[in-house]
Amino acid sequence: MDAAAEQKYDYGVVRWFTVMAVVYLVVGALVGVYIASELAWPFLNFDTPYITFGRLRPLHTNAVIFAFGGCTLMATAFYTVQRTCATRLWSNKLAWFTFIGWNLIILSAVITLPLGINQTKEYAELEWPIDIAIAVVWLSYMFNFIMTVHNRKTSHIYVSNWFFLGMMVMITYLHVVNSLAIPVGMFKSYSIFSGVQDAMIQWWWGHNAVGFYLTAGFLGIMYYYVPKQAGRPIYSYRLSVIHFWALMFGYVWLGAHHLQYTALPDWTGSLGAAVSLAMIIPSWGGAVNGMMTLSGAWDKLRTDYVLRFLIMSLAFYAMSTFEGPVMSIKTVNALSHYTDWTVGHVHSGALGWVAMIAIGSIYHMMVRVFHVQLWSEKLVNVHFWTATIGTVVYIVAMWVSGIMQGLMWRAYDEYGTLAYTFAESVEAMHPYYAMRAVGGMIFLAGSVLMLFNILMTVVKASSEGSVQRARTATATA
Ligand code: HEM
Ligand code: HEM
Repeated sequence: MDAAAEQKYDYGVVRWFTVMAVVYLVVGALVGVYIASELAWPFLNFDTPYITFGRLRPLHTNAVIFAFGGCTLMATAFYTVQRTCATRLWSNKLAWFTFIGWNLIILSAVITLPLGINQTKEYAELEWPIDIAIAVVWLSYMFNFIMTVHNRKTSHIYVSNWFFLGMMVMITYLHVVNSLAIPVGMFKSYSIFSGVQDAMIQWWWGHNAVGFYLTAGFLGIMYYYVPKQAGRPIYSYRLSVIHFWALMFGYVWLGAHHLQYTALPDWTGSLGAAVSLAMIIPSWGGAVNGMMTLSGAWDKLRTDYVLRFLIMSLAFYAMSTFEGPVMSIKTVNALSHYTDWTVGHVHSGALGWVAMIAIGSIYHMMVRVFHVQLWSEKLVNVHFWTATIGTVVYIVAMWVSGIMQGLMWRAYDEYGTLAYTFAESVEAMHPYYAMRAVGGMIFLAGSVLMLFNILMTVVKASSEGSVQRARTATATA
């Protein structure tokens, strides 16, 4: 099974990033289920500061976005760039530095966030010494990637690499600017921005973490793994290039849609909404491009469970990139903002799009970097259904809860006073919070099955000595 590749490419670091991504998926989803349960049954806070919702929530977002998402992006980018450039990594040692550094950063998040050490910037909670470490490790990832592309043996740079590189450049820039702060101690700093500027910079970062990290990076994955798994070329290469440039130029203008009806100048919100609406076009173009790759071969979905993950992720990508622009319209945002509708939108993107495309690509890579069949194909199918059902239960609960919340807050009685107290709206949320926790548990169960399947595949590979065999087979050939 692709033995020559073992000799030709640096797969060791890819193997580790791949397995760690699955470990972090389970950890992140577990913390997600716990905080979802805390919202439904608050006694679970146990009056212990380290495990209260306020401290575990950033741990959840950091675990799923930076630990799970980050390891997936690093595994897939290092794998894809080697395969599409027909060359090994510029520096295998530097890739190991990235692996160790990134995992130490994750460990520092696991320690500092429950202790309450937090910059209070969403998706940028970690304190300044860790921020510096993130910049250094991220640059090592980007530099290695660029140098590998530079050393390529192919004339063309495949579109996935454009998406990966776009993400790397933009995240460097966004992370550094948003993290500019004046330290007043080892674990305390103040942002150099204040007031409206701080809000604007924070959401310029916040939305672009979604646009470049959770979208462009994962589209880099989509453009390589969907055609590979389907065994067909991408439906329209030209469309993929248009998709790339439209995302790169469009996303940077959207941040203000998180700050409608605030102290920000009104026009910034209108601009954010207008560009958000325009983003439907490239996003749907990309989703259709990915799906149409299967045109004439839809029957593959019957037997190829990994492909199911990849294609289902595109359906969720299309859905969340329709919902997001609608939510950015001021009148809709007046209802959705501060409600669970936002949380529903987040998870249709995060579980449906990001996690599903990541899971599909991880299963695809496992077979190729360990040179062995998956321990159980059937388990992949069970995982597919649990992930899909869990995601749907989660987001439906949040849609109903969010819209109800928004409507209850704005309802007036015949005397012009508010029809419901805030506490009444909280009480009305309870069944939906319980339902979301159940959806999360179903999703988590699927992730545990995946981890089991992946670990058993590693065990199988080591007992069969498949990696070793692949190395010696090519060495003696
Ligand atoms: C078992 C699966 C999961 C469960 C049960 C879960 C649960 C939760 C809960 C309860 C919150 C807090 C919502 C609130 O503040 O009201 C949250 C927030 C969040 N989660 Fe998850 N989550 C899961 C998986 C994921 C994954 C895989 C990702 C990303 C790839 C993700 C990304 C986020 C983000 C970005 C937020 C912040 C949302 C916001 O600020 O509106 N989650 N999650
Ligand atoms: C064209 C695409 C998209 C647009 C225009 C868009 C727009 C929006 C809007 C208007 C909000 C609510 C802001 C608020 O009221 O506070 C939002 C929240 C959010 N969206 Fe999207 N969205 C898009 C796609 C996605 C995708 C694919 C993801 C997935 C991973 C995602 C993740 C998030 C997150 C994490 C938040 C919550 C931020 C927070 O408050 O912490 N979005 N988005």
